[in-house]
Amino acid sequence: MITKKKWNTKHAECLNLQKQPEPNLRLKKLSAYLNGGTALDLACGLGGNSFFLSRLNYQVEAMDISDVAINFIKEQAAKYNLNIQSHTADLTELHNLRRTHKTFDLIVISYYLDRSLFPIVRSLLKEDGYFYMETFYQSPENGDRKISNQYKLQPKELLSEFGDWTLHYFEENEQEGWQSIFCQKQ
Ligand SMILES: C[S@@+](CC[C@H](N)C(=O)[O-])C[C@H]1O[C@@H](n2cnc3c(N)ncnc32)[C@H](O)[C@@H]1O
Repeated sequence: MITKKKWNTKHAECLNLQKQPEPNLRLKKLSAYLNGGTALDLACGLGGNSFFLSRLNYQVEAMDISDVAINFIKEQAAKYNLNIQSHTADLTELHNLRRTHKTFDLIVISYYLDRSLFPIVRSLLKEDGYFYMETFYQSPENGDRKISNQYKLQPKELLSEFGDWTLHYFEENEQEGWQSIFCQKQ
């Protein structure tokens, strides 16, 4: 499987460089809203957001296609006694998520775009639950030119997609080419 191999290689390279996974900067700034409960981190990578959320008293479920990433999260969670359940899952196979009967107080997607996850986010989030997402968008400045438009949101796309929810934060950074939203299900 090409995607899994590619990401396993990337994550193994980061681990070799002993880079510590960091939480997303905008998510970190939203800490005042993050009061614990259950959280789902989709395409969690090496777990920067999962580690951050578990330290804010969330019981975190983390999913990613890369077993290198998931094994790293499992090791760290055991070592530091963090409340994180991590699973290898291909998120393009949506039945993996539809089978989940749990609901969450918070769902996070950072730097992974698959629009077919949006209806699932809606169904897996509790009433009043929060959704945070940040990824690249097709900014007028063209952001990161190495990334194909296929992996980028349209301008203001998350704002219209989740426009029926309570908006707490939305930002687009033209230079860096990211779009970020934090909203609450109602
Ligand atoms: C750019 S990284 C973002 C990681 C993390 N969310 C972060 O912000 O640091 C994209 C992640 O998506 C994962 N990924 C790619 N395709 C996937 C798929 N089909 N199912 C699950 N995870 C996938 C990769 O393994 C990688 O960890």
